[in-house]
Amino acid sequence: MPTADADFARVDLADLGLDEGGHLLLDRALGALEPGGRLAVTGRHPALRLHLGAWCRERGHRLTGVDGAAADGAAADGALADGALAGAAGLLVEKGALGERRWAGAERAGTAAGPPDARADARWGLAARGALVEAGGPPIGAHWSERDHVWADVAPKLYAAAAAAAWDPATAVDWTAPLDAVPAEIERAVIQIMTYLVENEQAALIIPARLLSQLHPHYREVMQLLAAQAADEARHVEVFTRRGLLSGGPLGTSSAGGRASLATLLNEPDFTTASFLLSVLGEGTFVDLLRFLHEHAPDPVTADVTRLALRDEARHVAFGVAHTAHLAGSDPAYLGTLRRSVERRHAALQDTAGLNAEVFDALVLLAAGSWEPAAIRRGWQAVRELQSRMDEGRRRRLAVIGFPDDEAAELSALHTRNFM
Ligand SMILES: [Fe+2]
Ligand SMILES: [Fe+2]
Repeated sequence: MPTADADFARVDLADLGLDEGGHLLLDRALGALEPGGRLAVTGRHPALRLHLGAWCRERGHRLTGVDGAAADGAAADGALADGALAGAAGLLVEKGALGERRWAGAERAGTAAGPPDARADARWGLAARGALVEAGGPPIGAHWSERDHVWADVAPKLYAAAAAAAWDPATAVDWTAPLDAVPAEIERAVIQIMTYLVENEQAALIIPARLLSQLHPHYREVMQLLAAQAADEARHVEVFTRRGLLSGGPLGTSSAGGRASLATLLNEPDFTTASFLLSVLGEGTFVDLLRFLHEHAPDPVTADVTRLALRDEARHVAFGVAHTAHLAGSDPAYLGTLRRSVERRHAALQDTAGLNAEVFDALVLLAAGSWEPAAIRRGWQAVRELQSRMDEGRRRRLAVIGFPDDEAAELSALHTRNFM
């Protein structure tokens, strides 16, 4: 503990050396002083004087004797490096200004409490939000550094919910549940649907991961949420692949039109537009698809994997809607940008088939449950009802973002036939 009298503060290191943590006591005692303030140092370590001289030079302090004579130089000639002298109460450290200068240009990386700042400075780099940032150091090359371009007030809550709801694919699904009751052709339909789901899930994993890599870490909760979202998609890829191969494979087909549709998502450079096309329109539509698959699942494993994915997707959609609504709320002209992104995507995909025909047929057969003509009719109607539920859901979400009903209906109709 440093002690003080009228002239200078004191610190006693006892037998602690500066090569074993003694500098912590010195720093602590000097921290209470202004530059020019003096600290008397006592201690019994044999090399105290030698080490103290070197330490002071490195830190910009001045080591003097009690009589004020400079001791630094004397230490170097060995005369004062004598262990016998180190124990003497003759060491005074005069605090330098180097430490103060080091933090002179420092600033806080925003405030730690409350919502993040409207703009994140590239010079804050990877510093924790609210940390005191020493000047210098490399700036971060993040592209998204404005709150309105990435934020939603619900992001912290959604991240907490995502962290709490993470499930283990090994135990959340009973992989030993029998498939014997599933007719071979229905199983082929399930495999085709799983094959289709996997390629869509892979796109849904890559997009948040890409947005994340360009996000300023000041928007920590969004960064965490996107990471959780990518991890969710990794699990979806796993369980759909595993269900697809459960009866021994092989997997089904991947259509050029489906992949073209996903490519337009991957190529969207804007954070909000990518989030809108993927999460509001694509994953929003997938929520209905997964619910349909869960309801018509011919076996417990299919029911489980679609239920688990559906739960995660609801969060992804919630963030996409909340964020897009947040930006459109602060900049109503942004609705025009979103509208053009849907039109652009529609035009780019006009000459493609959109949904893989084998996937559509597999959905009908799954809902039919058999090849009886009457069952096929029911399956067909169920898929048509699914498509209108998807359309209603999209229109509802577009309205939440701020689109008038007629425009919402128009944009929903332009959404890709591939669902995602
Ligand atoms: Fe997913
Ligand atoms: Fe998702």
